[in-house]
Amino acid sequence: MDADFWLTRWHRGETGWHLEEVNRHLSTFWPPLAVPAGTQVLVPLCGKTIDLLWLAGQGYRVLGVELSPLAVDAFFAHNGLTPTVTDDAGLRRHRVDELEILCGDVFALPPAQLAGVGAVYDRAALIALPPELRERYAAHLAALLPAGVPRLLITLEYDQALMAGPPFSVSSAEVQQLFGETHRITALGTFDALPESPGMRQRGLTELTERVYRLDPA
Ligand SMILES: C[S@@+](CC[C@H](N)C(=O)[O-])C[C@H]1O[C@@H](n2cnc3c(N)ncnc32)[C@H](O)[C@@H]1O
Repeated sequence: MDADFWLTRWHRGETGWHLEEVNRHLSTFWPPLAVPAGTQVLVPLCGKTIDLLWLAGQGYRVLGVELSPLAVDAFFAHNGLTPTVTDDAGLRRHRVDELEILCGDVFALPPAQLAGVGAVYDRAALIALPPELRERYAAHLAALLPAGVPRLLITLEYDQALMAGPPFSVSSAEVQQLFGETHRITALGTFDALPESPGMRQRGLTELTERVYRLDPA
């Protein structure tokens, strides 16, 4: 699952994960986190999600990170926005008011880029990565983010033997293993995601569970 895999997906328009509406778990479960307006919220592996705009609309400073220039350009074009684009240590920074997207590899982010982040929204980022990269991703963000940053995390669980990822199945045990040392993990909800995922059914799944967690400083 290297960069080429994702760049090709965007080039071919194979972006079945993209939602045209704000993610319902974000609008339901983010407000109770009580993250103060003005906080910088990191949205790793953001694609062209409209969730970035929802967060900006709640008064947050938003920082998306996305590998694909096509995705970043599509986000701004689709939403009728014209960003200011600057080069920032090898990454392209796109900015409109308090919403920024850094275009580049999340693993290549210099430490200073995330020093001001105060909360994280992870939907289809952790689960986009294969097991060995998930560990690296969790450790990398832990090293770059200020300590004790709260996070809303949305995962999928299914029988990995029935379908190859992405998206990958990430169990509650793995969430505990990846974040349990640094965070208090609270399961907020469990949802049957199969009815709204016909593509996954076609790929062989008979069960697909979506789980939402809040991660608070330990
Ligand atoms: C499954 S999509 C999810 C997008 C978004 N979170 C959403 O909910 O629509 C995963 C995204 O991560 C991006 N991506 C994959 N590896 C990346 C990396 N190493 N650095 C930055 N972005 C990456 C892909 O290009 C893709 O847009």
